[in-house]
Amino acid sequence: MTAAINPLRSPGDRRLPRVPEPCALVVFSVTGDLARKKLIPAVYDLANRGLLPPGFVLLGFARRDWGDGDFEQVARTAAQKGARTEWRESTWRRLEDAIKFLPGSFDDDAAFDTLAQTLTDLDATHGTGGNAAFYLSIPPTAFPVVLKQMQRTGMAEDVVGAGGAWRRVVVEKPFGHDLASSRELNRLVDDVFTAASVFRIDHYLGKETVQNLLALRFANTLFEPIWNSHFVDSVQITMAEDVGIGSRAGFYEETGAARDVLQNHLLQLLALTAMEEPVGFDAESLRTEKKKVLGALTPPKDLARYAVRGQYDQGWLAGQRVVGYRSEEGVDPASRTETYAAVRLEVETRRWAGVPFYLRTGKRLPRRVTEIAVLFHKAPILPFSKTDTEELGANQLVVRVQPDEGVTLRFGSKVPGTTMEVRDVSMDFQYGEAFTEASPEAYERLLLDVLVGDASLFPTNEEVEQSWRVIDPIEQHWQDGGEPHLYRSGEWGPKAADEMLAADGRTWRRP
Ligand code: BG6
Repeated sequence: MTAAINPLRSPGDRRLPRVPEPCALVVFSVTGDLARKKLIPAVYDLANRGLLPPGFVLLGFARRDWGDGDFEQVARTAAQKGARTEWRESTWRRLEDAIKFLPGSFDDDAAFDTLAQTLTDLDATHGTGGNAAFYLSIPPTAFPVVLKQMQRTGMAEDVVGAGGAWRRVVVEKPFGHDLASSRELNRLVDDVFTAASVFRIDHYLGKETVQNLLALRFANTLFEPIWNSHFVDSVQITMAEDVGIGSRAGFYEETGAARDVLQNHLLQLLALTAMEEPVGFDAESLRTEKKKVLGALTPPKDLARYAVRGQYDQGWLAGQRVVGYRSEEGVDPASRTETYAAVRLEVETRRWAGVPFYLRTGKRLPRRVTEIAVLFHKAPILPFSKTDTEELGANQLVVRVQPDEGVTLRFGSKVPGTTMEVRDVSMDFQYGEAFTEASPEAYERLLLDVLVGDASLFPTNEEVEQSWRVIDPIEQHWQDGGEPHLYRSGEWGPKAADEMLAADGRTWRRP
């Protein structure tokens, strides 16, 4: 029997390359880290793969005394450094003429008037059709002024009628600081742009392995029947980084690990792990299912036990001595900002009732690894001797998001020999071995989605608000008292995080 494919569920053949209509991509704060490390290389990779239309322009906006040529040089270096695809001078030469720069600050009316006019002119000079996507890679405090400028100049509005043009906006996280400020931010954005033209980016959703979670769950028969509380004991979602905060003290001091990663990347991973099957992979259907999970999430009832924060102390990493967070440049020596957060959440649905979801993230941990581990109940009876099963753990299915992309299944197997000793073994699927195709970088995939107008991988404002609803009480609890637990750089977080699991009779997986 073949699987039924509902034509309504498969909108178009996704194997065909999606090439956007002619357009301009306007990047605000184009001199920042994100633009240099991710956005410009992603534009180059798209061009290199032939996925940009002929009438494409990259327009940088920043407070620099630069001309087009200066920006082109900076962009070239950034692309050469950060691109995933091979360097081709011919690709860059085609792109070169499409790289423009506009100097200006956010409160500079004249600069925004020029920008609005430039968008119209680019249609005549480069054939952009007047279409434009604005990438707001700007500090949260700059949102109101930039949005007001866009509204004042009318550049946020789609051009209707014959020869109409679209306008879209990409909003980078953090979406606000808490529920109240994210509501305010959403209100501001919705005042200026229509809901369909707002793309809130969470780059984790652009990762190949994160999308594979959907394939794993919904393209196979094997996993879905056991994907519930009858079989699953608990879920552990880990996003560990070995790096410290680098030069981002200003941002990080205001943000901390829970707002930086837990509120967005980890809750989105949780939503994809726990959601019901969507009726299709269009934006509406996917977002509906994720929203239901986020709406059913409850903050930990016992915050003192189930919300642990930590801060890295000095230590050793990869043979190098590294300083503690409070000694990082730009950090308050008495800072209470957390660089590690671990929480236990529950999804109050029939499928997941009673299954704890443990989430943790931290900087300066032993290595960079992101994974979703589904841990299954132990067998109710083991017809083996106790010594034969001493090294048998719980069955686990681990989606390895990065860097060693793939899936691992862990289960017990007989140790060769004359006894019935059973020990855990792993069965591995590795992306690098199974496929010859290389994964695009998350930003490349998501930028393309913005330009073709596909919003499926972008969270809605309701999802963002639901996530803050869960995080706010945790932040409040931490703010009300105490200090973060210190952990040595190069170790797996503070002891309190281990105690949190020990209290439930469990331990963290060592990824
Ligand atoms: C960002 C956070 O969203 O994700 C950073 O702001 C973090 O603090 C980064 O380092 C990690 O992204 P990735 O794709 O390297 O796991």
